[in-house]
Amino acid sequence: MPSHAIEARGLDVGYGSRPVLRGVDLAIPHPSVSVIMGPNGAGKTTLLKASLGLARILSGEIRVLGVPVPGRLEEVRRRVAYVPQKEEVSWGVPLRVIDVALMARLIKKGPPRRPTREDVDAAEEALEFVDMLWARDRCFKKLSGGQQQRVLIARALASKPELLLLDEPLSAVDAESRRKIAEVLARLRDEKGVGSVVVTHDVNPLAPIADYVALLSEGRLVAAGPLAAALTPENLRKIYGPVAKVVEVGGICYAIVGDAHR
Ligand SMILES: Nc1ncnc2c1ncn2[C@@H]1O[C@H](COP(=O)(O)OP(=O)(O)OP(=O)(O)O)[C@@H](O)[C@H]1O
Ligand SMILES: [Mg+2]
Repeated sequence: MPSHAIEARGLDVGYGSRPVLRGVDLAIPHPSVSVIMGPNGAGKTTLLKASLGLARILSGEIRVLGVPVPGRLEEVRRRVAYVPQKEEVSWGVPLRVIDVALMARLIKKGPPRRPTREDVDAAEEALEFVDMLWARDRCFKKLSGGQQQRVLIARALASKPELLLLDEPLSAVDAESRRKIAEVLARLRDEKGVGSVVVTHDVNPLAPIADYVALLSEGRLVAAGPLAAALTPENLRKIYGPVAKVVEVGGICYAIVGDAHR
């Protein structure tokens, strides 16, 4: 019985006692490429964090791959990989690409954290999957933003998750890497049955491959469903305001809101 990637019922989430997400009912299909959209502060990152037990569930329920959070959090963390916003990643020491790709696997071991042949094979296979194996021994920091993002996806894939949660993997990413990331997410779903939930301000690069979108505004779910059904001019104006300009391309509506980070 296939379970959902993320399933929420009457979900309130906060960091203190004040709810940041309120009354969210959601069932994201699995395996799928699903998108979470909404203005700054809408609660997109909070929804990903709640899925990993990193934000407080005040009421309601959330299940990830059918597994209740926070009840069976260890299982969730074993089966799900999180790709954080790039700005959240900073290391003092200069790391090679392969070192970054190995991190997620090493972190799960006790000291001394020495990679086995199996770890290296998994990291190299993941780098190959995102077309970054050519940069195996290069310095991570010297790569372009888009290349770094692909290495961070490889790091997540090296631990062989069933579901990826990605927070704005497309911002500050060159067009070539955007295209490659979209292709990687589609191939993960189609060839390996690995699903993705992607927070993004720009659905454009994912529109051809995405199955489902959830629109959040001010902590509430405004609409969710297949892109053509959920991305209506009415729903886009509900989340981005009445002045948002809406254009239709290939049966899907997009809001033009100037700077995505208004
Ligand atoms: N660690 C935290 N402690 C307290 N409040 C927080 C914390 N993180 C986020 N918030 C608040 O929760 C609300 C939702 O934040 P969240 O980061 O989920 O929004 P977002 O939709 O991801 O926005 P953005 O597009 O800017 O990334 C905001 O009002 C924010 O100020
Ligand atoms: Mg965010």
